[in-house]
Amino acid sequence: MRNTFGKTTAMAAVLAATTGMAQAEDVEVLHWWTSGGEAAALSVLKQNLETEEIGWIDMPVAGGGGEAAMTTLRARVTSGDAPTAVQMLGFDIQDWAAEGVLGNLNDVAEAEGWDAVVPEALQAFSKYDGNWVAAPVNVHSSNWVWANKAVLDELGIEEPKTWEEFVAALQAAKDAGKTGLAHGGQPWQEATIFDGVVLSVGGPEFYRAALIDLDAEALGGEQMVEAFNRMGTLRSFVDDNFSGRDWNLASAMVINGDAAFQIMGDWAKGEFVNAGKVPGEDFLCFRVPGSDGAVSFLSDQFAMFAQGDDAAKEAQAKMASAIMSPEFQIAFNTVKGSVPSRTDVDASPFDSCAQKGMEQLAAASESGSLVGSMGHGHANRAAVKNAMYDVITAHFNGEFTAEEAADELVNAVEAAQ
Ligand code: GAL
Repeated sequence: MRNTFGKTTAMAAVLAATTGMAQAEDVEVLHWWTSGGEAAALSVLKQNLETEEIGWIDMPVAGGGGEAAMTTLRARVTSGDAPTAVQMLGFDIQDWAAEGVLGNLNDVAEAEGWDAVVPEALQAFSKYDGNWVAAPVNVHSSNWVWANKAVLDELGIEEPKTWEEFVAALQAAKDAGKTGLAHGGQPWQEATIFDGVVLSVGGPEFYRAALIDLDAEALGGEQMVEAFNRMGTLRSFVDDNFSGRDWNLASAMVINGDAAFQIMGDWAKGEFVNAGKVPGEDFLCFRVPGSDGAVSFLSDQFAMFAQGDDAAKEAQAKMASAIMSPEFQIAFNTVKGSVPSRTDVDASPFDSCAQKGMEQLAAASESGSLVGSMGHGHANRAAVKNAMYDVITAHFNGEFTAEEAADELVNAVEAAQ
């Protein structure tokens, strides 16, 4: 691992070369990290930048998954007032880069050797036309289940290993008067569950064929019907008030013991940790049963919008450098629930869920079982993603049978391309 001195020296050289030593200024950061756990992680970033003497102008746009944030961003850019740095996911980064509005982080990336430490799967999104346009702050994944351990113990339920065991456990919780599955009825949350369910039905091959390659036979075939059937089964274990609920309130139901399980990305762990809960003791984390070995990943990245003046560019380079430092990656990701976006970070400061996540990420990458999360913009561009959201949510709310939903998926995806 590079020492702080080496890094600082390299940065100083970059800044001197690229900016003529202009004064750093403020960064305005657009993001959707507004839940308790997310805000705690964000303050790690803010404090880190403060020590670099970079001021922080906060531009939060609430709404998990970032759809509302992306709408605000479009309006800001259209009116010629792009923020300095924007939290962004997957194909959105590529779309903005294609519009020619993102800045270039090549100097800092080269000085700090990002090419050698950032996994290729992330670089595919951080770079456009071979140039670094965004700094990846983490890796999350969506096919996780979070369980209240005391509730499971009380009901005599073991960690479910198969889909059938999972359904039996949900039923046992329901029979005992608990909510089986804590869920918030918002399209992106249903799409998050769908990532894990598709993997549980047909593994990474089916996931890739259907959700990434958009193969019509996979999108509309028997395995997809089974995926929708499983979504229907899950629907029968949510409570009556699920509609519109924010994801962190669903996490709170598991934290409080009102519900047994939540299927959610590992930002949910940030809520548990923020509530003082300990993995293995108070809660369990495991992959959606049946999806073990596969990981549907996403990476929060900060895309930098092109700036005219040198001081603003300097602030962006400093922010990117701060984000990529191994020390920051540990401080931030232990709070956020995610794992580092670089492969050379020491795993020992992380809790057992994160360590499991890091091992599984590396193993999935090795075995070809690492797939981009559809729910979070890492499988396809926004138009296709939104088309899928519509069908998944309509089915979840009883508008389609499983067979109809599979047919609709084929049509919607075709229309969106
Ligand atoms: C994801 C994002 C995470 C997370 C979540 C809920 O899209 O990547 O960092 O916080 O939304 O807001």
